[in-house]
Parts: sequence; structure tokens; C-alpha cells
Amino acid sequence: MTASAAVWRERLSAFVARKEADARVARLLPFVTDVDEGGDAFDRIESTWTRAFFDGPFYASRPADHRLPATSLVFVQSRDGNTGAADPSGLGGGDTDQHLIYEGLSRVAADGVLAGAETIRGGQLIFSTWHPELVALRASLGLPRHPLQMIATLRGIDVDSTLIFNVPDLRVVLLTVPPCVNAFHHALAQRPWITPVIMDDPNDLRGAFERLRALGIQRISCVGGRTIARQLIDAGLVQDLYLTTSPKNGGEPNTPLYPKPLKGRLIVKKHGTGSEKGVTFEHLALG
Ligand SMILES: NC(=O)c1ccc[n+]([C@@H]2O[C@H](COP(=O)([O-])OP(=O)(O)OC[C@H]3O[C@@H](n4cnc5c(N)ncnc54)[C@H](OP(=O)(O)O)[C@@H]3O)[C@@H](O)[C@H]2O)c1
Repeated sequence: MTASAAVWRERLSAFVARKEADARVARLLPFVTDVDEGGDAFDRIESTWTRAFFDGPFYASRPADHRLPATSLVFVQSRDGNTGAADPSGLGGGDTDQHLIYEGLSRVAADGVLAGAETIRGGQLIFSTWHPELVALRASLGLPRHPLQMIATLRGIDVDSTLIFNVPDLRVVLLTVPPCVNAFHHALAQRPWITPVIMDDPNDLRGAFERLRALGIQRISCVGGRTIARQLIDAGLVQDLYLTTSPKNGGEPNTPLYPKPLKGRLIVKKHGTGSEKGVTFEHLALG
């Protein structure tokens, strides 16, 4: 039997308190800009505090099409190009990447954060911003404290025992196919805060994204993993790739973000400093 609503709320509060505490004590180091080709074509996501650590504005594309959300991908890879890791922070992108970019600038203005089911399976996590400066920036944009949690699944996922699905305060979208919704009919009926977005066919991610936009979702940050990310790229749904490369080899072998080099326009390139020397951040505009 699943835990009571009160128990799930306590678990969420404990998770939020731990993430906020970790973010508060993280020692961030400033990035230094090598390339900045962003301009008026992009939205600028920034505050005085983020500019100081990011060394300039963070750019995000506007929706290219009124029927689709603006969508970005945020990834960290090892020096030898692997993205698979039970804990991606172990790939060596550094605290500044994790707190300022991954759990910060890449999602602070997002209506929703999208992950493939493998990225959350077995974990008790939610996707949000945690550092007080980023929480304040998100609030200043008029967005809810936590983004919409969006999970893509074809086989279905253990709804009853996964934090993300059990707290009515969190809005959730399940991006899925009819057999999965049928199998989870009972679990979903008990959780009106979960909205299924049902594709007739797993290849119809574009149709699903059109429905997301119709639901009012204008900006999505997709956090991977590579399986869902590759499909979004192939469907032409990703405008911005935010890619951090660590200075060390590692991760699960043969797990590149994409099977061949990605073509895109380099918008921003930065490098880490101090103990994060060797970390690079690139923003590529795909398309
Ligand atoms: N380096 C990074 O920045 C980063 C970021 C995220 C994750 N990761 C790591 O990457 C690994 C997970 O990546 P992954 O590639 O194995 O999996 P993933 O992309 O996280 O999830 C794949 C799952 O997404 C669902 N899915 C796939 N295509 C779909 C479609 N068209 N429509 C709806 N749902 C679809 C399926 O779920 P079902 O199985 O439920 O059918 C599939 O198994 C983990 O080690 C994780 O920690 C790394």
C-alpha cells in the first residue's frame, strides 16, 4: 500500500530542505567567457548574482513556432563523451555546473522539466531550483516554486512508490502511450494532479509537444537521458543544447549524448576556474 498523503508531503519537505541546504553551502566558482555570440534573438535569463558567476547573461531561445514550446537540453558529459552515470554529478562537471546551470539557469525560467523514465526510475527526486538566488529569480519571473514535472514512459513506471507522483502540490505530466495509461488507469484516477499526454505512437513527440503548448507550457528544460534526448533532437524539437564537459574521463562506456557530432551554432563558450579548471560549458543552437 502506498504511504499517506501526509507522509509524501513530509518526504517532499525533507527533500526540498536537503536540496536547499546543499545549494546554500555549495562553493561556486566563477566561469570565464571565451565566446558570447548571444544577442537580441534570445531571451536573457539573469540576475546580478547569476551574472557574477556565469560571467554574463544566460541565453534561451524563444519558441520558434507558436504551436510548440521552446525546448532546451541540459547535459554533462565526461571528457571522453559519456553521459550515462547513476549520479551524473559524478561525471565531474563541478558544483558550479550543478547548482548554477543544471539546477539553475537552464530551468529557472522553464514551465516544465522533462526526463526519460530511466533517469528517475528508483530515485526519489524532483526537478526544481534550490539556491536561494535562483529561487528568487524564478519567483521574479512569476513562475511557481517548482516546475511542472514531466516524465516520458512507454512501459510505465512505479507510480505508487515514487515521490514525484505522490504529492498533490506538484503538477506532473506523463508523456506516454495508450497501453501504459490503460495499465495505470487506477493509479492515475487517484491522482488528478497527474496529466497524461497520450501519443498514439512513440514517434509522435511533435504531436505531444503541440499538446503541451496548448496546455500553456511555453518553455521546457529536458534533462535527458540520452534516449529521450536523441529522439527530441531527431524530431527537431530542441533549440538549445547546454553542454558541460568535465576534465576527466568516466561514466558508462559508449553513452554519448548523440551517436554522431551534433551540428549547431556556438552561442556561448565558457571555462571553469580554480578547482573547476578544465570544465567547459557550451551553448549550441541546434537547427
Ligand atoms: N549526463 C547527464 O547529463 C545525464 C542526464 C540525465 C540522465 N543521465 C543518466 O543517463 C541514464 C539514463 O539515460 P537513458 O538514455 O538510459 O534513459 P532516459 O532517456 O532517461 O529514459 C529512457 C526511457 O524514456 C522512455 N521513453 C523513451 N522513448 C520514449 C518516447 N518516444 N515517448 C515516451 N517515453 C519514451 C522509456 O521509458 P520506459 O522504460 O518507462 O518505457 C525509456 O526507457 C542514467 O544513468 C542517468 O543517470 C545523465
